[in-house]
Amino acid sequence: MTERFGPEHLEAWRRDGGVSIHDFFTPEEVAAVVADFELVFGRTEGAAEGVNKKKQGEVGKFNPAQFATLETGPFECSTALNLIGVHPALVSFAKQALRADHVHLYQCQAWAKFTGDADYDQPFHTDFSNHTLTVPSEDAHLNAVTILCYFSDVTDAHGAMHYVARTDSAKVAGPEASLNKDPEAHRALQEALRPYEQSSAAPAGSAFPYSIDVYHRGTNMTAPRGHRYAVMACFKAASNDAIAFHAWAFHHTKPWARIFDNATPEQLACFGVPLPGHAFWTELTLQRAQLRYPGWDLTPYREALVLAA
Ligand SMILES: [Fe+2]
Repeated sequence: MTERFGPEHLEAWRRDGGVSIHDFFTPEEVAAVVADFELVFGRTEGAAEGVNKKKQGEVGKFNPAQFATLETGPFECSTALNLIGVHPALVSFAKQALRADHVHLYQCQAWAKFTGDADYDQPFHTDFSNHTLTVPSEDAHLNAVTILCYFSDVTDAHGAMHYVARTDSAKVAGPEASLNKDPEAHRALQEALRPYEQSSAAPAGSAFPYSIDVYHRGTNMTAPRGHRYAVMACFKAASNDAIAFHAWAFHHTKPWARIFDNATPEQLACFGVPLPGHAFWTELTLQRAQLRYPGWDLTPYREALVLAA
């Protein structure tokens, strides 16, 4: 696999809290994921016009319609979408960004947005409040990395996420200011961040890793009949109990065999499955696991068991 990112991207992520990486995914990978989006969401076009619920000069608001087409896998589709969140290049970026030998995928969602489904404009916010019960660490490695992946061309008419580099937001406020619900403080924060706003607009196949302390906001879809296909993959160091979102077993009714039957042990480890050679694996746990996932190739786990014997 050719390198899909360089040290300059890791450095920018560490410094600014967010960085756009073009051509992260190959055109073939993008096409396969797009086909799965079309299968899962069952549509390719939005309305002729966007909706705009804001009054003149008002900042965007969160509203439930924005999240109506945000889905958690595994999905009834090919391995392309089911395994994209644990693509080896994403895992490699996460390991290097977090300086961790082992990482967990603690959130992974597919988000299809369509012109006219919602006013997707959001206020600036940080993501830490639903990724940890406390606050972001001052040390980025103790936090997490969310990698927003675009699988359709995303211009500013296609709801490109906007963000403020950490070096700029530091002049305005820390991430905790997003907790202040006082309407006047909220408006003042939005106004103060606005001059520093940058767009993550990028072609299909781009990745945008960002941190849980970075101010950002969704923007509206205005392109006629437009769609935006995105996947969010969030990684933390495997040993980090302070960060969480999905408990994967909570989603046990989803088609997990699609992942187990096709993922490598390293990819499964991102979901918390013990690696081959781990003490968890015994003759009995292997038998039981095979019963649960008949199509899962347990050879590497069996071989490690034999080696350890
Ligand atoms: Fe967010």
